[in-house]
Amino acid sequence: MTDLTTFIAGLPKAELHVHIEGSFEPELMYALAQRNRIAFRYASVDELRAAYRFGNLQDFLDLYYQGMGVLRTEQDFYDLAMAYLRRAAGQAVRHAEIFFDPQGHTDRGVAFKTVIDGLWHALEDARRELGLSASLILCFLRHLDEESALKTLEEALPWRDRFIGVGLDSSEKGHPPAKFQRVFAKARSLGLHAVAHAGEEGPPEYVWEALDLLKVERIDHGNRALEDAGLTARLAAERMPLTVCPLSNLKLCVVHDMKDHPLRRMLQAGLMATLNSDDPAYFGGYVNENYIAVQQALGLSRDEVVTLAGNGFRAAFLDDAAKQRHLAALERYCATAV
Ligand code: HPA
Ligand code: ZN
Repeated sequence: MTDLTTFIAGLPKAELHVHIEGSFEPELMYALAQRNRIAFRYASVDELRAAYRFGNLQDFLDLYYQGMGVLRTEQDFYDLAMAYLRRAAGQAVRHAEIFFDPQGHTDRGVAFKTVIDGLWHALEDARRELGLSASLILCFLRHLDEESALKTLEEALPWRDRFIGVGLDSSEKGHPPAKFQRVFAKARSLGLHAVAHAGEEGPPEYVWEALDLLKVERIDHGNRALEDAGLTARLAAERMPLTVCPLSNLKLCVVHDMKDHPLRRMLQAGLMATLNSDDPAYFGGYVNENYIAVQQALGLSRDEVVTLAGNGFRAAFLDDAAKQRHLAALERYCATAV
């Protein structure tokens, strides 16, 4: 009998919640800072990594925006994405839907074209070289205003075929989904998928708003939805996917002990949970480490782990044929990994 850690390592998976700028490992950050001749605040990689202690989401975001500041050229964005895609492929990720934050770059004078060209070429090369499919989701920074989001969407339209949807991230509290109704309506009218971070730090009302006002197809995080029984029942009835990120929740003090992670309660309530890494370079693990941490803390069974991996494919923005192919490969893996 394969132990569950080994089983998880080889389990075919989808990753639906990962910020490419959050996969920026300190070693690569340092190398790119040198390549771009940018002075860096921290004296060493170790010193930088030691700063990765966060009391809440904002503590993390402050460092996250600082880190992405060394990304300047198309090659930088290519290297960043390729590094993530290699790690993901090495962890049996077969499909990834990757967030990127254009305003985090355009607001510092990096052209949208530079960002999208670098990311896109990495996705193309990964498909050929690593056998991994990946697509991009353009996120709006919710601490900025809707005008800026609308301008960003407009600016991105020449590359409409290079991203499959829009999302909403950054500082949640005080920035409800309602603020972004018009830009989401515009994006949906263009045939883009819609997702939003909601209920990570923010209240259940933000999850309602994401559903009713932004008409999202997945909720990113969604932990606090469990505080509202009516909302929980609705999410279950609609089979609304939640992209859950256990190590992120622990590192950002959304949960204080992995043993208290709401994933088990989500499964018991019939919610369609998926497991993801969020910002793996900052939170201490890629997707496998997230599966393993939560499996061990909650004592998840092998069947529960397989359900979570299957949910990743079911909740992906893939056509039915592709979903069936992935789910069949998952079944074959389970049959052989005895
Ligand atoms: N929450 C909100 N915004 C983010 C996150 C997150 O976990 N990571 C990167 N941007
Ligand atoms: Zn996130």
